[in-house]
Amino acid sequence: MSLRVWLLLVVVVPVTLGTNPGVKVRLTQKGLEYGRQLGISSIQQKLRTIKVPDISGKQKVSPIGKVEYSLSNMNIVDVGLPKSAVTPVAGTGIKLSIGDAFIHLHGNWRVKYLRVIKDSGSFDLSVNALAISTSIAIHSDETGRPTVSSVSCEAHVGSVSVKFHGGASWLYNLFTNFIDKALRNTLEKQICPLVADAVSDMNPHLKTLNVIAKVDKYTEIEYSMVTSPTVSESSIDLSLKGEFYSIGKHQEAPFSPVAFFLPPQANNMLYFGISAYTPNTAAFAYNSAGALSLYITDDMIPQSSPIRLNTKTFGTFIPQIAKRYPGLMMKLLLQTIKTPNISFQPNNVTIQASATVTAYAIQPNTTLTPLFVLNLNTSVSGKMFVSEMRLAGAVTLNEMDLTLRTSYIGDFQVRSLDNILQLVLKVVVIPKLNVKLSQGYPLPAIGKMKLVNTQVQVLKDYMLVGTDVQFTG
Ligand SMILES: *[C@@H]1O[C@H](CO)[C@@H](O)[C@H](O)[C@H]1NC(C)=O
Ligand SMILES: *[C@@H]1O[C@H](CO)[C@@H](O)[C@H](O)[C@H]1NC(C)=O
Ligand SMILES: *[C@@H]1O[C@H](CO)[C@@H](O)[C@H](O)[C@H]1NC(C)=O
Ligand SMILES: *[C@@H]1O[C@H](CO)[C@@H](O)[C@H](O)[C@H]1NC(C)=O
Repeated sequence: MSLRVWLLLVVVVPVTLGTNPGVKVRLTQKGLEYGRQLGISSIQQKLRTIKVPDISGKQKVSPIGKVEYSLSNMNIVDVGLPKSAVTPVAGTGIKLSIGDAFIHLHGNWRVKYLRVIKDSGSFDLSVNALAISTSIAIHSDETGRPTVSSVSCEAHVGSVSVKFHGGASWLYNLFTNFIDKALRNTLEKQICPLVADAVSDMNPHLKTLNVIAKVDKYTEIEYSMVTSPTVSESSIDLSLKGEFYSIGKHQEAPFSPVAFFLPPQANNMLYFGISAYTPNTAAFAYNSAGALSLYITDDMIPQSSPIRLNTKTFGTFIPQIAKRYPGLMMKLLLQTIKTPNISFQPNNVTIQASATVTAYAIQPNTTLTPLFVLNLNTSVSGKMFVSEMRLAGAVTLNEMDLTLRTSYIGDFQVRSLDNILQLVLKVVVIPKLNVKLSQGYPLPAIGKMKLVNTQVQVLKDYMLVGTDVQFTG
């Protein structure tokens, strides 16, 4: 291998291994449009805080001579931003353009001339055809959350018109020039910093991204960004880690996310792509936390079932149980022996699990006497849905396969236990799993987000959640 190739591998391999996200979030043009509406009202409020300083001076006006003038108490009475557009700029960020904007002000004028003559009145001022254009960059902060900043901005005042109340008309001409120039300067200077403020005001909201979202007492999920956001002509994509950890034991899953690509759908504001990696890390975390085992006792089986967890029922299939342990209740211990595997195929989520089932007879003094251990391979199929800000699911049994691992009671036909174990899975284990799955796990969220028009599609190797968003405060 040449040195160059070797260097290339050294440089490329760690980067590509580390950066595949488990979860992708795509903000479409429709989502940006919603963001624009929120952003514009924030900019509008900021522009209302513009302070226009008093303007005063002396000016020679023939034939009167020196005129002292002052314009004061200029207050903004209205700001209108009727036209704006937001477009993603590939590789850079977002461009926000505001056109035809206007600012209406009201103020007082005062003059003094020929030593003793004083006059005063008020005026209404209208700044029109105001254009603002700003570029907004998106980055990842040190906590893996997105941050935005205004990186360039231009503001241009198209025209200024004034309507004076009171006074003589020759005065108007005197002021109009001064007002035009002074206002252009003061407005053009103040607008861009205020726009930059409005843009940075988004950061406290972005900081609410749940980079560590607690799921339950066993696990949490990490949603920090693994790379900077990528901007294309039509969308902004965030690449999030999407890895479950068992709480208190920050252990990396022994497998890595595989690259996946979101389809070019744009009907919704937001798309979440959740790769099979994410639920597989959940399975790994629950398994490492020891949360994937279950004791099954007779009281968990519905009263109406003729099959009971006792040596009488089991004795009808394995006579030596009834003979050696007559009249005892039984207990089963279900334990996974490796991390269950979750796979996504179009319209189908499948979970495959390998477990052992240990059957015990419960002695009158409560001692558990082991009878046999079975290997249980099972596969369940799931449907996924979104409830509130959580992705939830429900599964049904596909197939189940039993083999004998150890027997303490001599040989028996494992097949004969198929019906009992199927019943146990269907009426005890799967309903319990479904209660857990129906609680779901949190999706990445910012602030008080509500999802509407949400659809879930299961595709090959990932799941796509398309949704619109409403911020409720
Ligand atoms: C899960 O099973 C699929 C095939 O069914 C396999 O490609 C994948 O590697 C398995 N994943 C894990 C984490 O074992
Ligand atoms: C899902 O796929 C599994 C195997 O990949 C199959 O056994 C099962 O029947 C499928 N389920 C549905 C509902 O299509
Ligand atoms: C409980 O009863 C079983 C069966 O009679 C016996 O083998 C075992 O030693 C007893 N255990 C205790 C702790 O008494
Ligand atoms: C159960 O699955 C394990 C691995 O997951 C496999 O080695 C074994 O052969 C399977 N047993 C049956 C009975 O299918």
